[in-house]
Amino acid sequence: MSLTYVVTGASRGLGLEFVKQLSAKGHQVFALARHPEQSPGLQQLIDNKSVFGVQADITCEKSIKEATAHVKKNAPEGVDVLINNAGISGDMKLTLDTTPKKVYMQVFETNVCGTMDMTCSLLPVLRMGDKEKTKKILNMSSIIGSIGGMSKPTLPALSVSKAALNMVTRMMANRLSKENFIVIAAHPGWVKTDFGGKNAPVQPKDSVQGLLHVLDHLTSKENGSFIDFQGNKIKW
Ligand SMILES: NC(=O)c1ccc[n+]([C@@H]2O[C@H](COP(=O)([O-])OP(=O)(O)OC[C@H]3O[C@@H](n4cnc5c(N)ncnc54)[C@H](OP(=O)(O)O)[C@@H]3O)[C@@H](O)[C@H]2O)c1
Repeated sequence: MSLTYVVTGASRGLGLEFVKQLSAKGHQVFALARHPEQSPGLQQLIDNKSVFGVQADITCEKSIKEATAHVKKNAPEGVDVLINNAGISGDMKLTLDTTPKKVYMQVFETNVCGTMDMTCSLLPVLRMGDKEKTKKILNMSSIIGSIGGMSKPTLPALSVSKAALNMVTRMMANRLSKENFIVIAAHPGWVKTDFGGKNAPVQPKDSVQGLLHVLDHLTSKENGSFIDFQGNKIKW
């Protein structure tokens, strides 16, 4: 069955890989990126029939509003799945002792507020169409946002932002459960992208294949869960 997906941060890395795999499976994808025209990988996939390139900076209210209007216009049946993939790490050299407030704020603005704003804006489009059809939201978190699983403090701004995103995920899951939504936080593995770096052991292809398998097989029991790309549940 062909579904309609929105993927944020689709210019490169995992976001671009989601668009590649989803379009290859025959789904319709709205690929949201800050600068779609500057991503050669995305340009190769955009055909304005099954893959639409849409300008969207998740920290900019105007941009979110315009992107939502574009999606709504081109998806009259609504959206089935939102993949909130866009995220930033902040300076990875900073430690708990050296991270300034400015960096916490920047990372929080994108990873938490940006994800929430994009989701709230798209909710009416996710609610459109068949009420019996399950709608899904995947918030791209990270294992380093797990408070229960933390062993040593690394990447403080990123960890704190993903822990907050996990709480947002649980709140959304709770709020939307009666409307036939499933909302999860996901850990993609340590993946070879600009973000994950060249020493990462997991290829984007395998991470995204795993996450799409997880998404396809979600049931209401998993609403509000934190799951990795291999389907394992993660401690909050
Ligand atoms: N790679 C890993 O090992 C790993 C591990 C755990 C979690 N994650 C999470 O997975 C997600 C994707 O990571 P990745 O490895 O693919 O990272 P990446 O290669 O750095 O790509 C990040 C993407 O997010 C976009 N983005 C950043 N800020 C944005 C904004 N304000 N509005 C819209 N798009 C924005 C970037 O767009 P531009 O091209 O315009 O900069 C880019 O498309 C992130 O949320 C990350 O935290 C990754």
